[in-house]
Amino acid sequence: MRMRKKRNLEPRMEACGDLLLARGRPCKNLKEAAENFRFPLDYGAIFGNAGPVEMEIGCGNGGFICELAKRQPETNFLAVEVCTNVVLTAMERVKREKIPNVRFLNIPAEILPCYIPARSVGKIYLNFSTPLPGSTHARQRLTSPRFLEIYKQMLTWGGEIVQKTDSLPFFEYSLEQYALCGFSVSEVTRDLHAGPYAEGNIVTEYEANFTAKGLPICRCVAKLCG
Ligand SMILES: C[S@@+](CC[C@H](N)C(=O)[O-])C[C@H]1O[C@@H](n2cnc3c(N)ncnc32)[C@H](O)[C@@H]1O
Repeated sequence: MRMRKKRNLEPRMEACGDLLLARGRPCKNLKEAAENFRFPLDYGAIFGNAGPVEMEIGCGNGGFICELAKRQPETNFLAVEVCTNVVLTAMERVKREKIPNVRFLNIPAEILPCYIPARSVGKIYLNFSTPLPGSTHARQRLTSPRFLEIYKQMLTWGGEIVQKTDSLPFFEYSLEQYALCGFSVSEVTRDLHAGPYAEGNIVTEYEANFTAKGLPICRCVAKLCG
């Protein structure tokens, strides 16, 4: 079902313009855009400091990134979300709560290479990315080899992907891809809330829904091997 466009979407996006680093795509073809366009972000100018940078891809309504940014005030956060309707909610939240260390990219993750300097991101959070079951859309899974290659360019040496999902098949698929693409995987759990990694866990909007339905949550950390 198509989501209805938010009321006054454009003026509201404009009101959050100071938080928005990129929107849309530089050309129609995503592959061509990723290969041919470069607008590297200057973190020092954006955040006014030289702190470490972390990123959430598919930030949804922004609950996770807002809480994380409050817990880690010395870290700078980039929140990536393709859906404008959704990113608006997240941006308005950051504005309302006056969180200084979060900025947004309203773009598909496919074109992150246009904006993100190599070896500049310490952690990437993938929270409840769409599992896209079946083989037809496998390439669009955010843990497919083509995305892992993008993350490998952005991540610092020893940088990490932290993934959570309710989908066991997607989780098993992701573990396989990490191993195949040169990541070492640790902190693997198929029942996050019952295990040792529950402490300090920030429950996302989707996680709350799945947990309310009694679904266990899978989590792992995939570290880029040097
Ligand atoms: C299932 S929701 C999870 C939202 C949030 N992370 C949570 O856990 O509550 C997945 C989000 O990822 C976004 N998304 C999916 N594919 C994306 C892509 N290629 N680039 C950027 N965002 C994407 C969707 O628009 C959606 O908001």
